[in-house]
Amino acid sequence: MPLVTTKKMFSDAYEGGYAIGAFNVNNMEIIQGIVEAAREERAPLILQVSAGARKYANSTYLKKLVEAALIESPELPIALHLDHGDTFELCKSVIEDGFTSVMIDGSHLPFEENILLTKQVVDFAHDRGVTVEAELGRLAGIEDAVSVDAEDATFTDPDQAAEFVERTGADSLAIAIGTSHGAYKFKGEPRLDIERLKKINQLLPGFPLVLHGASSVIPEFVEMNNQYGGEIPGAKGVPEELIREATRHGVCKVNIDSDLRLAMTGVIRREFAKNPSNFDPRVYLGPARTAIKEMVRHKIVNVLGNANKI
Ligand code: G3H
Ligand code: 13P
Ligand code: ZN
Repeated sequence: MPLVTTKKMFSDAYEGGYAIGAFNVNNMEIIQGIVEAAREERAPLILQVSAGARKYANSTYLKKLVEAALIESPELPIALHLDHGDTFELCKSVIEDGFTSVMIDGSHLPFEENILLTKQVVDFAHDRGVTVEAELGRLAGIEDAVSVDAEDATFTDPDQAAEFVERTGADSLAIAIGTSHGAYKFKGEPRLDIERLKKINQLLPGFPLVLHGASSVIPEFVEMNNQYGGEIPGAKGVPEELIREATRHGVCKVNIDSDLRLAMTGVIRREFAKNPSNFDPRVYLGPARTAIKEMVRHKIVNVLGNANKI
């Protein structure tokens, strides 16, 4: 089937109390590993392309690799999504290129400006059958949001979220409840503001919410990196149980990038250490691809709950 939008994926996920994994893609092995897991588990899938991915791999290459995945897995619903689009022009250009979903991230803007920018993208995208994710609130850095006052200043305000969705017509909303990008999400005990999430969900019943910065920073891969020459001490992600809980309160899209990076790099480090005489990239990229596949399978089956939803 052709690329799909996120519309049906999200309405089914909301009803079923599960989430769709949105995985960041940067090269062929990453795409293949993710898609093979989703195909085998019959799990609807979002593949997303960031600014960094476009700079590294070039949007055309990534789009064509995703088209190859569609040919190889014709029964799998895949949405091709722009991650953290920052301008109307960028969203317009990827929509014209065939992306089926875009994020316009105006979270750094004042409320009214975020609404204006988001609405402009929504109007353009909806005329072309493309779904739009917006963002309200700022993802906390590890040093931020240490107090309730700081949380109130950065986390998504539930009343504003309801007003924002009403006035923009966005199809989904990324919210800030304590997650952050990267491998260092918490200094002490991991904590998400689940009460805030519940409030947002109550004010926006049936509406799909998005959790960015949702990697678990899987200890097995952190240790593998550190064991074979890496230096990522103290890396900490969102515990799986918290992600599962979020999916029961309206979170329909869970963004995962760091876990892919950690799995791929950990396995490549291990293969280099084990086989120093090898210089054939396939010998280390193959196991890295398999690790990505098994990690994504684990997410689908044990964390997102979207196996067998096709
Ligand atoms: O939102 C952040 C994603 O992990 C993508 O990051 O622009 O370095 O690819 P990137
Ligand atoms: P992680 O860094 O937790 O994987 O988050 C990725 C993300 O939110 C991409 O938009
Ligand atoms: Zn993000």
